[in-house]
Amino acid sequence: HIRTIGKEDTERVLDFLRTFFFRDEPLNVDIKLLEGEQTCPDLEEFSLKAIKDNVSLMAITDSGKIIGVSLNGLIERNGAADDDDLDVADPKFSKILGLLNYVDKEANVFERYPDVNKMILVEILSVDGSWRGQGIAKKLMNKTRDLAREQGVKLMRVDCTSHFSAKAIARLGFECIYKLKYEDYKENGLPVFDPEAPHKEVTVYIQRINQ
Ligand code: ACO
Repeated sequence: HIRTIGKEDTERVLDFLRTFFFRDEPLNVDIKLLEGEQTCPDLEEFSLKAIKDNVSLMAITDSGKIIGVSLNGLIERNGAADDDDLDVADPKFSKILGLLNYVDKEANVFERYPDVNKMILVEILSVDGSWRGQGIAKKLMNKTRDLAREQGVKLMRVDCTSHFSAKAIARLGFECIYKLKYEDYKENGLPVFDPEAPHKEVTVYIQRINQ
C-alpha cells in the first residue's frame, strides 16, 4: 500500500532512510557519507524538511513495514530556495548540496515554464534493498503525481542522482530537460564525484501534471 507520511511516522521514516538511502544512494556511497557513523544529522534535517510539506509518501507491506519512501517538497516560484535555512556542518553533505544547487540553477525550471508557479519536487526516493526492481519506485512516483494533481500543482520534477531512478522515471513518460555527467562537474579542475557504474550523470526529469 502507499500512503502519505504523517508527523507520527517521522522517526520510522528516518530509521528506514538511515538503513537504506543514507548508505546506498550512489553519491552517499561515493563520498562515504556515513563512514562508520550511524547517521548524518544534516541529511536527517534535509529529509525532515521535505516531510513537513505533507506531500510525502511511503510504501508499506500488509504488516505495516516501510519498504519505500518518496519525500516530496512543494517549491514555489520566488519562494526561498528549499535548503536556504539548512545549517550544514558536514563537509561531505555540503558537496552534495552544492551539486544539487548547481543543477537547480542550470536546469532553471521556472524559467522554462513561465506559466508554472508551484511544482512538486521529489527530494528523496528510496526503496528497501530486498524489494528493488519490482516497480515500487514507479508506484511511489505515480501516487506522488496523483497527490500533486489533486492539489492543483502543475509540474512534477525529479532530480535523479541514480541511473535506476532515472530509468524508472523515464518509463513513466517524464522528459529529461537537463543532464550533467559527474566527470564534468569539477572543483579546482577535478571531478567532485566518481560514483560506481552505471551511475554516470545527474538528470532532471519533468512532467506537466495539470494544464
Ligand atoms: N539492476 C538493474 N536494474 C535495476 C536495478 C538493478 N539493481 N534496480 C532497479 N532497476 C531497474 C528496474 O528494473 C526498473 O527498470 P524497468 O522499468 O526498465 O524495469 C528501474 O530500474 C527502476 O524501477 P523500480 O522497480 O520502480 O525501482 P525500485 O523500486 O527498484 O527503486 C530506486 C529504484 C529508488 C532508485 C532504488 O534502486 C533505490 O532505493 N536506490 C538507492 C537510493 C537511490 O539511489 N535513490 C535515488 C536517488 S535520486 C532521488 O532520490 C530523487
